[in-house]
Amino acid sequence: MSTHELYTHAPGETTWQIPATGAARFSWEYDEGRDRLLALYQKGKDKQWDGAKRIAWDLEVDPYDPLGTPDESMSLYGTRHWDKMTDRDKGELRKHYASWQFSQFLHGEQGAMVCAARIVESVPDLDAKFYSATQTMDEARHAEVYGRFLHDKIGMLYPINDNLKSLLGDTLRDSRWDMPYLGMQVLIEGLALAAFGMIRDTTDKPLPKQILAYVMQDEARHVAFGRMALRDYYKQLSDAELREREEFVIEGCYLMRDRLRGVEVLENFGIPKAEAEECSENSEFLALFRQLLFSRIVPCVKDIGLWGKRLQEAYVDMGVFEMGNANLDQLMAQDEEIAEKLDAERFAAEEGARVAEVEDMIAAGEGR
Ligand SMILES: [Fe+2]
Ligand SMILES: [Fe+2]
Repeated sequence: MSTHELYTHAPGETTWQIPATGAARFSWEYDEGRDRLLALYQKGKDKQWDGAKRIAWDLEVDPYDPLGTPDESMSLYGTRHWDKMTDRDKGELRKHYASWQFSQFLHGEQGAMVCAARIVESVPDLDAKFYSATQTMDEARHAEVYGRFLHDKIGMLYPINDNLKSLLGDTLRDSRWDMPYLGMQVLIEGLALAAFGMIRDTTDKPLPKQILAYVMQDEARHVAFGRMALRDYYKQLSDAELREREEFVIEGCYLMRDRLRGVEVLENFGIPKAEAEECSENSEFLALFRQLLFSRIVPCVKDIGLWGKRLQEAYVDMGVFEMGNANLDQLMAQDEEIAEKLDAERFAAEEGARVAEVEDMIAAGEGR
């Protein structure tokens, strides 16, 4: 079925066009690469997986509660609107929220694919081009699995949020080659990764859990790539150039924190925009969620050397400054382990079922 039949409202244009700026670069040096980057490229090749096979698509999903979201974590919980809602309305609201959230993941993944392809084109060194080519494929697979989940299991999609779109546009319009890394790999992917992680670790539904765990296994490599590339490059920039990057980060962080809240979902339920914003603002759960969204960005920004006074002040203002001390390597290693453990458990369960089946057959044979 065409996605356009599943959108809550028409996305406006069928194709979004962003005029390209900056140069496409070729390198004629084929034999020299940074060891760590080439090792990451090798890992990127080794760890490819097929979403059509690795994910158990036959698992059923209740579209009216795809993630097993508890009442208290709904933004309307505790408001006068919630009290008026029937169970059916609440199911409908859960469906819209899950659809909105996974739709933003999906559009973000397409953005990540386009940015990774842009990096292949514009980055000067061949080792980085090689690596980014594997990432382009990773992001294609991510977009594929989120798209399939929304089409087959939820049956509803939301267009891209206006503010996410404007950040993505700014990232792609900039001609400086590090900007797709900063806007996409650090900001958008950092936020997405934190959101994926919170759902992965709280949902009791096996299908979305698999999707998120496997996607995050790949994202751990992407973050490593962004950090490696930017840490090297930002050491060479002047103070003024670094401040420009920091301003971009500050603006992007406020925009994502304040303008990416799913207010459009509540508007679809007839709640006026101002009141919808107020509900999202007052929800204790969402306030915590918004803070945790920064758990991956803040340590990454610090690590790549964007840690000037203005940026530190902004993070203090947002209440996320302390997150700069988190150990990113440990978080990434954990993301990889969780996916591997999930695989091991699933294999063990399948193996157990197969053994039981064989034992039943033997028992049936002996009984004869
Ligand atoms: Fe991705
Ligand atoms: Fe990614």
